[in-house]
Amino acid sequence: MRTQVVIVGGGPAGLLLSQLLYTAGIDSVVLERRTREYVEARIRAGVLEQVAVDLLEQAGAGARMRREGLSHGGVKLASDGEWFRVDFEALVGKSVMVYGQTELTKDLNDLLAQRDQPIFEAENVDLHDIDGSAPYVTYLKDGRPQRIDCDFIAGCDGYHGVSRKSIPAKTSQVFERVYPFGWLGILADVPPCDQELIYSNHERGFALASMRSMTRSRYYVQVPLGEDLEDWPDERIWDELALRLGPNAAANMTRGPSIEKSIAPLRSFVFEPMRHGRLFLAGDAAHIVPPTGAKGLNLAASDVHYLFEAITDFYRTGAQGGLDAYSHNALARVWKAERFSWWFTNLMHRFPETDAFARKMQLAELDYLRRSKVGAAAMAENYVGLPF
Ligand code: FAD
Ligand code: DHB
Repeated sequence: MRTQVVIVGGGPAGLLLSQLLYTAGIDSVVLERRTREYVEARIRAGVLEQVAVDLLEQAGAGARMRREGLSHGGVKLASDGEWFRVDFEALVGKSVMVYGQTELTKDLNDLLAQRDQPIFEAENVDLHDIDGSAPYVTYLKDGRPQRIDCDFIAGCDGYHGVSRKSIPAKTSQVFERVYPFGWLGILADVPPCDQELIYSNHERGFALASMRSMTRSRYYVQVPLGEDLEDWPDERIWDELALRLGPNAAANMTRGPSIEKSIAPLRSFVFEPMRHGRLFLAGDAAHIVPPTGAKGLNLAASDVHYLFEAITDFYRTGAQGGLDAYSHNALARVWKAERFSWWFTNLMHRFPETDAFARKMQLAELDYLRRSKVGAAAMAENYVGLPF
């Protein structure tokens, strides 16, 4: 088989890239290791920047998001239960969209299914001749070996994928920070405790009140690494949330049985460069941010934007310039989101080394954000997403 672009990984990055290429008349094949059901059930991101929303619209995948997504014009920041609002619309004239990654993935999969994509349960995906001008990809489908020849390979297979590992270590560099805690998330079919998200810095650790809709809530609490889910029955999570989010939120918090519960570790990670020969990395395959600030999925969308522009430019004009500049352009935005996520994580969490002085520094910075329009505007500008 032959196609123009083989896309490894059918997460948000791979699906969105394939759909955008399709709208531009460029053929692609998406190889996804898991089943459609598995991919769509993975509870992850929930907040989209305006530029990500625009890209989904451009791909023709925005109809349900426009109907069902919730536009948020600000967030609340709390310390020890007392909160203030950062008003994105007043400060920077933009908002974000609350729309689950599960829903976005379903919408894109519905579109791709019309052309029998992705190929699910593609096993043992292997990349070949990425240094040359005729790369190809092999895999197993139903136990039978397959081969696809192509012009380009897009590595959209997430942090644990095969694409990044196909790049020789001697031509690349890794930048990394591992945080000494994780986020315990709970999803429940109860109304959210507030109209907007609440990020709370509390003595006992960070907590976040988020949502998927006005009838489905998503909450997180910071927990030490190595914590066992068994030790966190629902009631204990709700009690901890009530303490950390404070009396106002607690009074409005509806408790209910969890429909999903998981612990995610926190990590900052960047792999440079994001291109090797005919292989281009996008999304979590190339970088990870700690979830504070909701940048992971948005960065995946932003990489896809740069890669899509570069590939379409190549097929339209034969120009290589966009492809050559891809890694540099994508990384410039990646590093700014890495910085924001690192900063926001440091501001809101309790670290093992957070002594009385360090905590006073966090509280002083939160009070500064509360009182300074300039300080709050910088936070707002980054949260809603920097321009491409
Ligand atoms: P992935 O979603 O990881 O997709 C990669 C795909 O490749 C997967 O489907 C995988 O099965 C497939 N794959 C892997 N290896 C292979 C292989 N060898 N062959 C074929 N296929 C393969 N981001 C935000 O922007 N906002 C948020 O609010 C937010 N909240 C989050 C909350 C949590 C708890 C977590 C864990 C993450 C959150 N994120 C958030 C991050 C966001 O979910 C990720 O950044 C996003 O999923 C990245 O998309 P991707 O397509 O690059 O990678
Ligand atoms: C969600 C996750 C985040 O990391 C974040 O900053 C905001 C919301 C969420 O899953 O709803």
